[in-house]
Amino acid sequence: MCGIVGYIGDRNVYDVLIKGLHRLEYRGYDSAGVALETPEGVLNVYKAKGKVSNLENFCKDKDLQASCGIAHTRWATHGEPSDVNAHPHFSDDRKLAIVHNGTIENYQILKDALIQHGCRFHSETDTEVLVQLIEYIKLKNNCQLIDAVREALNQVQGAYAIAVIEAGNPHQIIAARKSSPLVIGIGNDEFFLASDATPIVEFTKEVVYVKDNEIAILRRGEPMKLVTLSNEEVSIDVTALELSISQLEKGGYPHFMLKEIFEQPVTLRDCIRGRVIEGGKSILLNGVRDHKDKFINAKRIVIVACGTSWHAALIGKYLIQEMCDVPVNVEYASEFRYNHPVLEEGDVVIAISQSGETADTLAAIEIARDKGAFVYGISNVVGSSIPRATHSGTYIHVGPEIGVASTKAFTGQVMVLTLLAIAVGELRGTLTKEQIAEYGKEINAIPDLVKQVLKLDEQIKHLSAIYTYARNFLYLGRGYSYPAALEGALKLKEISYIHAEGYPAAEMKHGPIALIDAEMPSVIVAPYDHLYEKIVSNVQQVKSRGGSIIAIVTEGDTVISNIADHVLEVPKVPEWLTPIITSIPMQLLSYYIAINKGKDVDMPRNLAKSVTVE
Ligand code: G6P
Repeated sequence: MCGIVGYIGDRNVYDVLIKGLHRLEYRGYDSAGVALETPEGVLNVYKAKGKVSNLENFCKDKDLQASCGIAHTRWATHGEPSDVNAHPHFSDDRKLAIVHNGTIENYQILKDALIQHGCRFHSETDTEVLVQLIEYIKLKNNCQLIDAVREALNQVQGAYAIAVIEAGNPHQIIAARKSSPLVIGIGNDEFFLASDATPIVEFTKEVVYVKDNEIAILRRGEPMKLVTLSNEEVSIDVTALELSISQLEKGGYPHFMLKEIFEQPVTLRDCIRGRVIEGGKSILLNGVRDHKDKFINAKRIVIVACGTSWHAALIGKYLIQEMCDVPVNVEYASEFRYNHPVLEEGDVVIAISQSGETADTLAAIEIARDKGAFVYGISNVVGSSIPRATHSGTYIHVGPEIGVASTKAFTGQVMVLTLLAIAVGELRGTLTKEQIAEYGKEINAIPDLVKQVLKLDEQIKHLSAIYTYARNFLYLGRGYSYPAALEGALKLKEISYIHAEGYPAAEMKHGPIALIDAEMPSVIVAPYDHLYEKIVSNVQQVKSRGGSIIAIVTEGDTVISNIADHVLEVPKVPEWLTPIITSIPMQLLSYYIAINKGKDVDMPRNLAKSVTVE
């Protein structure tokens, strides 16, 4: 949700910033802008509504020389997407420029007070309030920028990652964070800063993850300094990045989303590696092993997440209840944080988040910790906020996911939940040694089976042409296939803007069945499992009302294949592994329908990959 980049050093500042913005564009693409400070200390700000490429066009004939600069790609919160609301924002005297990710909650009170003092505002954003406040304090106290930033941040409520530069001081950037990610890259007499490490990795592998309430002082020719909001210096903890540049490129695919769908045999292998051990006889998750007692003694597990991660959480519930015989509640993090959650010591809370930055999930974690629960994180982005806020956890290790619609992260999350359910089942004695050995084998086979499923690509491409212009879709499933159906519907909505509703197949008769007619296709997820006979009836109910059906079935299926209009066959796997296998054809179907409609699948309208605001 909004991406910020900054650079100070000898390289071409504008080039570093633009490249960085392109890498961060998945975080928001309503508008983009740069602030460049010339070696003589003159501050120029250029911004444009829309994607980073619009900004590049706008900048073609501008003065782009600079010693330092900051840049931003926006996902609008306060004020519509427009040139004027785009970041960076100037202070009133145009001496300071700021970029900001997050929301300032008390901006209106601060704004009213600043207006009383004669400040003039030019945009509708909360960010402009912050830069005006910094300027006001700086002038009033006649102090240095760092002191004004610190004092201003002490008055601010909300979430922020900011970077500020100052006219006349071309070798300095001040940056700070609270509840929004900020990474500093340390190069050779140069500094980079960004919302995540993706813009930094091609220049340096040495990074510092700034913590909440810390301010970074980056000055050319001096070591980086970190101070707290109460002006105490903190030590710098440099981390080596494991990310590689090739992971951030499309690798010959037309879109990141397609690349990420096709990467799944490899990402699932990476996710399993080192975790299915002793030739499949045991499951090792360090995060579980190191906190055995918590899982053995848990009376209840609560899983919190948002979006696609919430669908993975639902599958986690089915897995853990089946394999560990412990009750599991699944909650939207945004609801959990406000519904007076009843937790007690001994409860285990699992928080799932691809980005590791989702604001609601982070808030839910804080509440769970405060109430004495043990909190376990499942995340993809190493070093992100959620892994740092939890007591323990597991990375899904699927590599950077750039396409806004989640694909390989979803299957990675489901895989980690599967491993966790087996590991906990082993600890609690609810699974036998024989079962675990059998399950280990089945898991090891999954990456190759996913490769097989991806061969449906051509068939799905053709099928997509038939359904591209449908205005509504129903996605139905039962048992493990119900959350898979929800995720299938979400994928279609996100990137093709077709209304799609996921539903438990048996519930359909209590409402959605009224919608079924020749214009309303249903995708029915019906692999062979213990509910197969039941879903056959649901398929017939749709058919007898004139609805067309795309069914996802197990290879060799004869019953549903005879009723459905189109059938996508997937290999046979145990039912607890079906969501990984059945979700892949639905990812491809959404992709091709969106492509047929000419939509931008990697950057769908109004969405952002990392949602760091409420
Ligand atoms: C956004 C993304 C979704 C994602 C959700 C939760 O809405 O577009 O793809 O599922 O946030 O994100 P998280 O990073 O917490 O999994």
